[in-house]
Amino acid sequence: MKLIDKNLYYVGGVVRDEILGLESFDIDLCYEGNAIDFAQTLDVIKTNSDFGTVRVVVEDKEIDIASTRCESYPKKGHLPVVNNIGCSLKEDLSRRDFTINALAKNTVSGEIVDFFDGLGDLKNKKLKVLHDKSFIDDPSRIIRGLKFAIRFDFELDRETKKLQDEYLANINYDMSYHRIKKELKETFNLNSYNAYEKFVNENIYKLLGENQTPKKIDSRVEELIKRYNPESVWLIYMGLYDLSNFELTTSEKSIVEAYEKVCNLKFNTDYDVYKAFEEIPLEAVLMYGISINYDVAINYLESISKIKIEICGDDLQDLGIKPGKVYKEIFDYILRKKIETPSLDKKDEINLVREKYL
Ligand code: CTP
Repeated sequence: MKLIDKNLYYVGGVVRDEILGLESFDIDLCYEGNAIDFAQTLDVIKTNSDFGTVRVVVEDKEIDIASTRCESYPKKGHLPVVNNIGCSLKEDLSRRDFTINALAKNTVSGEIVDFFDGLGDLKNKKLKVLHDKSFIDDPSRIIRGLKFAIRFDFELDRETKKLQDEYLANINYDMSYHRIKKELKETFNLNSYNAYEKFVNENIYKLLGENQTPKKIDSRVEELIKRYNPESVWLIYMGLYDLSNFELTTSEKSIVEAYEKVCNLKFNTDYDVYKAFEEIPLEAVLMYGISINYDVAINYLESISKIKIEICGDDLQDLGIKPGKVYKEIFDYILRKKIETPSLDKKDEINLVREKYL
């Protein structure tokens, strides 16, 4: 990509990741001044003058450029408002979450701009906020801290941990849960039991809403998720909590509802387990496994769920049984028998039908 200018900088995660020797997936560019004016000579496809952002095409690639901007939080915990587009780079960087994310790299000289010793904190593996009100302004930064701690194996600097503890002891629940959800997804999609332990031990779970209680989960959760590869990894951890503050998608809702239905069931037989789990999403089965009974979930996934009956409608017709509601009853009966004795073969199944229905 050949988009360079002496006032144009790479900012945030991309600079951090490059220094850590990691690949970055989204590249943030920031223009010191007004990015929309700067982009006038480029191939512009979209602008947002309220935020001072512009999307341009360079060598067939779409690139977003932000203007340097100052923000403030008139309503703490909610989205900030933009006060000044085109402020200094230093002012722009000072509104950010952690020192390691407040680095910039000049696109012409390649010089790293580091007003807050982000380089030192990267070296010492520390997460440090830029000012005392950072978590009050934006509590989702507490979950971002957890995410970066796990992703890079960093830890909170002592003062930042104190600010986090203070905030969590006095949470203002009037906040943007949309932002919290985004960060929870990114954090728990990392599938880390260690992240979950910190989430509970450091009281971060309190950010989910009032009256939450910490949940114990099976430490084999990571393995379980790796083995069965569910789509919504984050929800296996977070769905155990009351998520009524969050806007969930239809499929997320169906997972949580399915789990809530099965979590209080008592199973007497494998057939009961089969019937409870057969039509619920994989995620709900895994949630049951990590929070209620690991062995029951594994037994279902590894063996019970694989049991299939062999007889079909044609076989019942051959036996002279007229098609109708009774077919479902027969299949269910055979399934129950087969779950009790998995070694039954097709001949045994037919004999069982004969014994009971003919
Ligand atoms: N940022 C912030 N406060 C937030 C979210 C973001 O200050 N609550 C700033 C940080 O400087 C961050 C930048 O905006 O580096 C871009 O945010 P985002 O793309 O969410 O994060 P990245 O740091 O790029 O990390 P990731 O690798 O997870 O995308």
